[in-house]
Amino acid sequence: MINNGFLNNPYPTYEALRQAGPLHWNEEFCGGAWLVTEYADVASVLRDPRFSVRRAGGWANTSGPEALAELREFKRIFSRSLLFVDPPQHTRLRQVMNVGFKPAALQALAPRIQTLVDGLLEGVMTTTAASFDFMRDFARPLPALVIAAMLGIDGDDRAEFVAWSDDIADFIGSPTPTMEIARRAQISLIAMNDYFRAILPQRRSHPGEDLISQLTLAEASGGIITTKELLAQCCTLLFAGHETTRNLLGNGVLALLQHPEQWQMLQQNTALLPSALKELLRFDSPVQYTGRRLKVDVELHGQRMKKGDLVIPLIGSANRDPAKFTTPDALDITRNQGTHLSFGFGPHVCIGATLTYMEAEIALRSVMQRLPGLQLAGDTPSWGHNAVYRSLNALPLSYAAALTTSRLEDAVHV
Ligand code: HEM
Repeated sequence: MINNGFLNNPYPTYEALRQAGPLHWNEEFCGGAWLVTEYADVASVLRDPRFSVRRAGGWANTSGPEALAELREFKRIFSRSLLFVDPPQHTRLRQVMNVGFKPAALQALAPRIQTLVDGLLEGVMTTTAASFDFMRDFARPLPALVIAAMLGIDGDDRAEFVAWSDDIADFIGSPTPTMEIARRAQISLIAMNDYFRAILPQRRSHPGEDLISQLTLAEASGGIITTKELLAQCCTLLFAGHETTRNLLGNGVLALLQHPEQWQMLQQNTALLPSALKELLRFDSPVQYTGRRLKVDVELHGQRMKKGDLVIPLIGSANRDPAKFTTPDALDITRNQGTHLSFGFGPHVCIGATLTYMEAEIALRSVMQRLPGLQLAGDTPSWGHNAVYRSLNALPLSYAAALTTSRLEDAVHV
């Protein structure tokens, strides 16, 4: 199922799967998994406590017991991550983490995000001849800089963060990871963990406003979060905070430029930005699927799924389910048909969703204002090899560099 055709455009495969039925056993995923294709079932699996998120060991296990032993550090670190723990551990950790995602904390970050966006766009405008790679120059660095600002770490180290995260994403995003991919992911996760471990003493002695400091305060207050759990959450945030948002920016701008009437409508009425972002998330989800492992036998659509089976809720398919969204393959930035599942659903729903909307709105508004006449500069877009994190390798764009600042207002409102 996962071949170049799927990576370039997974939606025909999802449609064929949905037409063939709501639930499929597929041997290609980690040695065998149930694929859940419809919106209602994906939402219901994601909120059902019988479907556990504890699967960090499952990846390590795919290549047999020796691999599992070799990858024990990966399992050890990530098995404490919010993403991979069930209640009551999850409920406790989520409460601790919520501190950094409260509206006041996010609002305080908005001016920093605007400065980072402006800096990147100025880089684009001064160093290129009216054409640039949107992924390299904007969508890839911005989320890494924002998450670094949130954690209070040095944005200049972002090349390392991105490289470590990409290694981890390669492992998590591969249905059949090789040992080489797995080893690389483990080395990078250990490096990330060590990076944060080295920072902690300073944050404990001189706590600031950043999220790591907030977490060390919780750690100091005793029993709420352990040091190992704290390190796992830092790694999770660094990883989850930018492997995803970069794809919303890249996939979103590509979709808009491929639908010029929608792009023009948005430029004429930027009040549509929140609704446009919702639709872009639905239309081409940055995270195409997630995973669960069954705690007990469950019957669904007449099929018996057994305790221990891996279940793959196909978010990308749910978002194009015609039972939920009329004309699901059309991009309609004014669509108002309920929520997409791109941030997940239920207890593990993305903790960074509000931050993402804020960051993407600042980013897109600024791109529209500062890069008038934006259009695609390449032929067919080149998609990455990751089946979970749907990401463009590059997105060559051009813009009307000759327009002076005084003409920008006109350009935005044509
Ligand atoms: C376009 C941007 C994003 C998308 C599409 C996205 C998607 C998701 C999805 C689908 C889940 C649920 C996974 C599951 O149930 O298995 C999730 C959880 C999570 N996300 Fe995001 N995410 C985005 C941005 C962010 C950002 C910016 C951050 C952090 C700053 C973040 C941090 C997290 C964390 C920590 C979780 C785990 C929550 C929990 O298990 O309770 N995400 N995200």
